[in-house]
Amino acid sequence: MIPRDTIASILDTVRIEEVVGDFVSLKKRGANLIGICPFHKEKTPSFIVSPAKGIFKCFGCGKAGDSVRFVMEHEHYSYPEALRFLAQKYNIIIEEKEQTPEEIVAHNERERMFNINAFAQQYFSETIKTHDEGLAVGMTYFRERGFRDAIINKFQLGYCLNQRDAFIQHALKNGYSKELLLKTGLASGNEERMYDRYQGRVIFPIHNLTGKVIGFGARILSSDKTKAKYLNSPESEIYNKSQTLYGIYFAKNEISRLDNCILVEGYADVLSMHQAGIENTVASSGTSLTTEQIRLISRYTKNVTMLYDGDNAGIHAALRGTDMILEEGMNVSIVVLPPDEDPDSFVQHNPIEFVRDYIEKNAKDFISFKTQLLLKDADNNPIKRAEVLKDIINSIAVIPDAIYRASYIKECSRLMEMPEQSLMNELNKQLRAKIRKTNPGQPEQQDIVVEEIKTEPQNLDIETLPAGFYQEQELVKLLLMYGNNEIDIDGFDENDNPVVYRINVAAFIIDDLKNDDILFKDETHRMIFDIFDKALDDEVIPKEQFFISHENEKIAELAANLLSSKYKLDNWEKHEIKVKTETDVLSKMVYTSILRFKDMVIDEKRIELTRQIMETPDIDNQIILLAKKKKLDDLRIKINKELGIVIAK
Ligand code: CTP
Ligand code: MN
Repeated sequence: MIPRDTIASILDTVRIEEVVGDFVSLKKRGANLIGICPFHKEKTPSFIVSPAKGIFKCFGCGKAGDSVRFVMEHEHYSYPEALRFLAQKYNIIIEEKEQTPEEIVAHNERERMFNINAFAQQYFSETIKTHDEGLAVGMTYFRERGFRDAIINKFQLGYCLNQRDAFIQHALKNGYSKELLLKTGLASGNEERMYDRYQGRVIFPIHNLTGKVIGFGARILSSDKTKAKYLNSPESEIYNKSQTLYGIYFAKNEISRLDNCILVEGYADVLSMHQAGIENTVASSGTSLTTEQIRLISRYTKNVTMLYDGDNAGIHAALRGTDMILEEGMNVSIVVLPPDEDPDSFVQHNPIEFVRDYIEKNAKDFISFKTQLLLKDADNNPIKRAEVLKDIINSIAVIPDAIYRASYIKECSRLMEMPEQSLMNELNKQLRAKIRKTNPGQPEQQDIVVEEIKTEPQNLDIETLPAGFYQEQELVKLLLMYGNNEIDIDGFDENDNPVVYRINVAAFIIDDLKNDDILFKDETHRMIFDIFDKALDDEVIPKEQFFISHENEKIAELAANLLSSKYKLDNWEKHEIKVKTETDVLSKMVYTSILRFKDMVIDEKRIELTRQIMETPDIDNQIILLAKKKKLDDLRIKINKELGIVIAK
């Protein structure tokens, strides 16, 4: 435990520009520094560091935070790990708070287990590299499977002699206890009769995120069907199979750099992939995928590519995992390998360019994959087709993000050649059923819970940006992304009867702002506003590509940045709002964004008025200004009430 005042002194001492500067090359730009963002791929710098505020912010991918957050993101450290790292950099001594006796015991126990595992790993590695039997049996086996020295060393592969207790004797001689040998599963049996668990097997150490050995997998070399192919460490304080991914320590940087994680089944698959240079690969190690494993991946990326054997079992194993990944709000695609190949054999049999190309060309998003697979089974039998449909909608229903759900529905409607509306009805039915199940007794009206999308918190504003910049940008983003989409707006007809208007997002935003005489402040935002304004007159709304390749560099850059940073809901504060249909989501987003922007604009006017009131000596003038201010205050209350209503509705 790091004491509170030590944390405070770390935070006081760190300089964001020095912390970031260790990893990113920064150039001065006014009061700030600018560089290429380390968290996403970019050519033009959009990563800004503000020494005055002690924060960084990327305008491309949206990552932002202070020095601690930077170290956590960049080095994949936990909060205390990041603090320790910074303390070391600035020579701050951390005086650990006193631990309770129980904490000390538990901590020491884990440390002892890590120690003996490290000791065992070294011994097994030594054996495979220098011992006659190790070389003749273990090393020969790996060589025959095509594993070269570099990968054997990197993954610390080893061999356990085919003797009763060679390792145990070595460990006891070096002062490790019998109890510890049994607890880590390095030894089997009991304290009276112990024997090496992994006799005559090759060893795959399993590492945690920080590279410590938490357990072992050990493969038999004979094809003796009466014995298990793999023996693994038993579950313990330090090894929990369902929370571990084989290879994660060696893959994590590449996973976050490529923003994609390739998931395979076995140890050998991971080794072959890494050896071929595809280093963003991890394995679930035979168990069916768990939520904990998915969350582990989601620390580094939201995109998972599953690489599975072409046989039926492989395909169905892949399908089982997808819903869980979708449920975590991640994207899944699936690559099915040619018949009789697993990732290991496929990579060993083919040139690397071919493998990369195959993965890229054959990656199918889960909806196309599942639809095509199930449709093949259903032939043209209408009852079976209906079942397939239900099954697929079931998967779509677990996706937390409504916008993604809607786009999958579109895709599904195309593949199944069915109207979007009927798919949407089925989806809503399932969503309602799900809500009922999780909130029994809730009134029927509160059907679907979706996340409200909100602009980023104001306090991250960098001082050079005008107030309201984020609110403006939010609207620009909506224009670029959804300008062409239609939304339903509540209104009244000439007889004051309530009606619903269907209007495209661009028309709604542009007309609404023009009505209130509100202009964007940022020059690039205003240019985009004008383009849409003119496009509406011509009745052709430009597509995303028009902006991305716009001749004006500023427009092109902004469009690329905004359009590449998809709506990531975890970047926004989440409110639960209830809507009746999926299409409603976009309306709410547009509507709340406009209200927030107006709220900002009015607030600014209010501040200006307040300043004038303070400065004016003329009492009559003051009264006029006060009346104006009162009007603005009322307007703000109204807007906030409306915002509240939209959010609560
Ligand atoms: N597995 C296990 N225990 C077993 C069989 C398999 O723990 N008895 C796990 C291992 O992590 C293994 C994975 O399931 O890597 C996949 O199993 P399999 O495809 O049989 O193993 P491969 O890794 O492909 O092994 P090899 O290519 O060496 O046969
Ligand atoms: Mn295999």
